[in-house]
Amino acid sequence: MSEKPILVTCGLPYTNGPCHIGHLRTYVPADCYVRYLRRRGEEVVFVCGSDNHGTPIVVSAEEAKISPREMSERYHAHFDQTFRRMKVEFDHFGMTDDPTNHSRTRQIVEALRRNGFIYSKVIKQSYCTNCRRFLPDRYVEGTCPHCGVQARGDECDQGCGRHLEPGEIRDPVCMVCKTKAELRDQEHFFFRLSEFKEFLLQYLDGLSGTLNAKNYALGWVKEDLHDWCITRTLDWGVKFPGRDDLVVYVWVDAPIGYISFTEEWAKKTGNDWKALWCGDNRVTHFIGGDIIYHHCIFWPALLKGAGYGTPYSVVASGMVKVDDHKFSKSRGYVVWTNDDYLDRGLSADYLRYYLLSYTNHTKDLNFSWKVFGERVNNELVNTLGNFIYRSLYFAHKEFGGIPDVPAREEIFGQIRQSFARVDTAMHEYDFKVAVDEMMALAAFGNNYIQSNAPWKRIKTDRQAAAQVIKDCLVLARALCLLFEPVLPEKTREIWAMLGNSSQLETCILDEAFSDLPPSALPAPRPLFPKLEDAFITEMDSLLQKRVGEAKKRSKEEVPVSIEEFSRLDIRTGKILSAEPIPKSSKLLRLQVDIGDEKRQIVAGIAQFYYPADLIGLPVVVVANLAPAKIFGVESRGMLLAAGDRASLLMPRTDVPPGTKIR
Ligand code: 2FM
Ligand code: ZN
Repeated sequence: MSEKPILVTCGLPYTNGPCHIGHLRTYVPADCYVRYLRRRGEEVVFVCGSDNHGTPIVVSAEEAKISPREMSERYHAHFDQTFRRMKVEFDHFGMTDDPTNHSRTRQIVEALRRNGFIYSKVIKQSYCTNCRRFLPDRYVEGTCPHCGVQARGDECDQGCGRHLEPGEIRDPVCMVCKTKAELRDQEHFFFRLSEFKEFLLQYLDGLSGTLNAKNYALGWVKEDLHDWCITRTLDWGVKFPGRDDLVVYVWVDAPIGYISFTEEWAKKTGNDWKALWCGDNRVTHFIGGDIIYHHCIFWPALLKGAGYGTPYSVVASGMVKVDDHKFSKSRGYVVWTNDDYLDRGLSADYLRYYLLSYTNHTKDLNFSWKVFGERVNNELVNTLGNFIYRSLYFAHKEFGGIPDVPAREEIFGQIRQSFARVDTAMHEYDFKVAVDEMMALAAFGNNYIQSNAPWKRIKTDRQAAAQVIKDCLVLARALCLLFEPVLPEKTREIWAMLGNSSQLETCILDEAFSDLPPSALPAPRPLFPKLEDAFITEMDSLLQKRVGEAKKRSKEEVPVSIEEFSRLDIRTGKILSAEPIPKSSKLLRLQVDIGDEKRQIVAGIAQFYYPADLIGLPVVVVANLAPAKIFGVESRGMLLAAGDRASLLMPRTDVPPGTKIR
């Protein structure tokens, strides 16, 4: 491996909504990894930026009645600030709509064209005759051709997760006006992804990072690889060279942003960006598990085709759940980084710790306020915080600072062992194991001070107490260096309390192995306030309330399209017989003539009607409900009734049973 700096990037957030803890699953581990490498003395460049193009932004900007650029600038600033508050510190945070990325994207598209990897083709595209426009990506909804689940134009996000090509979605409907879309011919440009199969098999075989990224991608490449349409009929985006009516697909210019942001960083700092991207490189992408295809297949093929080096490593995280439910803004299962967390005065470090230590990086992480409170209090407050504070407090009180006695070799041995374990885990991108190892060292310290009880020893043997406290301070320093990537805020304060005048972010782990010279120490403050039960309960109720409100809203607000309504088979019927269902006070078993057949329907109307009075009555029936067993009796349809007393609907004039209601 070359000795080039390591370039670490994170998936770019779309600029159409605020930061939530789902986002942080990518950024916090990446930041932790970067800090760790720096503590190891490695040279690292850490860049990211916001993803400004594509239909998600246009749709949101239209809703907010502002321009996509304005929308992007607003959320760009928001993410930039939020990341800083979370202590996710990029060397550069750019925008994909800035000139560097426009020109880098054009350069790459032109190189691909020159190298014969782009061709044009007339394809059938969804078109809305009502809105009079083509419907790219999120402007169209329909059914996934692969798994049959409801999907949007470019991605089956509720079902199999596959990328969908323009025109592929079945039964397309315009997302704006809900009109059934038609297919119209249009010329588009394609990237010959299918020609990269051999290259990708070889590339993926040697790809470093997490196994989920490599293995999923290998599976897809072996399965099938089709060319990608890389143009869209939109005004917002990077113009496709030579065509004013087309922009490049957002998934072309977004990853190119990684290069553009490196260029911008290099310009700012007087460095050479090419060294980081061309030939053998040490580019490491941190991404969410939902965009593996884009990063492990499409992106390396683009780079290869345009003559760039390909990324060294892809680290893909599992998803974030809230209270064991799939993360969902619309259903209320969301925790906002600012409103719900930082603005309430909570430490960025607490959330960083939870996100890093909850589970392995490739697994799904569940956020619950209760578990968050428990982990913070048991581990950060009672183990790490307690150990550091007791050591510093005792050192200050009894010795005025660091006692003048050499630390025991055994303590350095313990530190060495922990460091080695953390190092292995970090290199395997297993942040949970790494953080657990760090906490195990804190627990060792806690036991050490507890079992050696320097507060007792000092009464009889001052030297022995000095020895214990010196050992604890050496451990505290090691913990501070080791935990810095996880807890950048708190460790800075501990560092100062340990009497250091250097900046912790310029130190390396090896500094844990020299003995601590004697010196005076300031009086320490407790650094890890406990999370009170009442606070956790309050935050939890806020979340429950949000979920409840979303449930209510979804019942009230989801508009039903004409197509959806017309799928209901509602018709008139006539009740032929009615009888009570044994042991049920509410249900009646009815036989209903619905025109072409007789149906058994179970209705909850027994409290309001005598069975005999119902016979011969005209009714309104939903005839195509999925059959259900109610009280053990099969029901194949539903009578329509209004109000608390189940007033049965019926046609105003005589119509024969089976008449369709429209
Ligand atoms: O999925 C997303 O949220 C995209 N905005 C990620 C883009 S990452 C990259 F390729 F630019
Ligand atoms: Zn699907």
